[in-house]
Amino acid sequence: MTMKKIGVFTSGGDAPGMNACIRSVVRTALFHEVEVMGIYEGFNGLVEGDFIPLNSRDVSNILQRGGTILRSARSESFRTSEGRQQAFEKVKAAGIEGLIVIGGDGSFTGAEIFHREFGIPYIGVPGTIDNDLFGTDLTIGFDTACNTVVEAVDKIKDTAASHNRLFFVEVMGRDSGYIALNTGIAVGAEEILLPETVTDIHDLVNKLKESRKHKKNSSIVIVAEGDDGGGALEIAQKVKQHYNEYDTRVTILGHLQRGGKPSTIDRVLGSRLGHQAVLSLLDGKSDIMVGLQNWEVTETSVQDSIQRKKPLRSSLFPLIDALSI
Ligand code: F6P
Repeated sequence: MTMKKIGVFTSGGDAPGMNACIRSVVRTALFHEVEVMGIYEGFNGLVEGDFIPLNSRDVSNILQRGGTILRSARSESFRTSEGRQQAFEKVKAAGIEGLIVIGGDGSFTGAEIFHREFGIPYIGVPGTIDNDLFGTDLTIGFDTACNTVVEAVDKIKDTAASHNRLFFVEVMGRDSGYIALNTGIAVGAEEILLPETVTDIHDLVNKLKESRKHKKNSSIVIVAEGDDGGGALEIAQKVKQHYNEYDTRVTILGHLQRGGKPSTIDRVLGSRLGHQAVLSLLDGKSDIMVGLQNWEVTETSVQDSIQRKKPLRSSLFPLIDALSI
């Protein structure tokens, strides 16, 4: 029995490229003569039955927009069995036969429980700036977030150089260091502090002293928000206790990393994964996450995507010291 109606929603932290993915899901489904219901505000919308039919024109002119037209929200009610029962009744009443969940590991966990309890099949699409999901080289939003960080830190480097200052810049990523590692290399940071590696303040101070010896009048340290040494403010205070040669400042980039027009990479990634998610769902599959590996679209079990840790690309580590002498 082929599906005739599916639902799509975005969940967790929004990410640039989610709208490209929504557009691709809607148009791929309609191309295959399957109706699409947009579900507003993630699992909250599922519980409340906050659905809207989406046709091809409803997703015109969203490819280039950041954020998500379906919005996102955390849902306390969906965490309860009563809430999930209500969601199931709303889904059935709307005739929705399968779901596409664009989000991160927490979103996939919710969809997996819903499938286990009520048999509604779902396909996960990795949509988060953190790039922390196993089974895909890139998550939707990561590239754009990195570009946003690089653009901001390039500006910080201008003023750091003008005032001989040391800047600690905190980036997002939750407990993953992907954004920090890639952007730290892209901006030529003197040091990059990652949740995946132990931060030693004395090592950091020695590195900054070395930079000073190499006549560096200003320095940038990228701090992943999940770093074991604390956030940028805490790290800066610890460094200052051991070394106060520099006039120091701290910038926390925060949620600007979540917004902005999606990059080409994120638009194409969102389009490719949205397209495959519909095909996989119509092919009778469930509990899988579509991803991009070696530039090809792949399927990974949701269990693996959630439970297996995606290691940082350690081949980048030697660049940190070599390129910052
Ligand atoms: O997961 C995406 C993310 O931006 C993380 O990098 C960040 O730690 C978190 O969301 C912030 O969550 P909120 O938007 O709820 O403050």
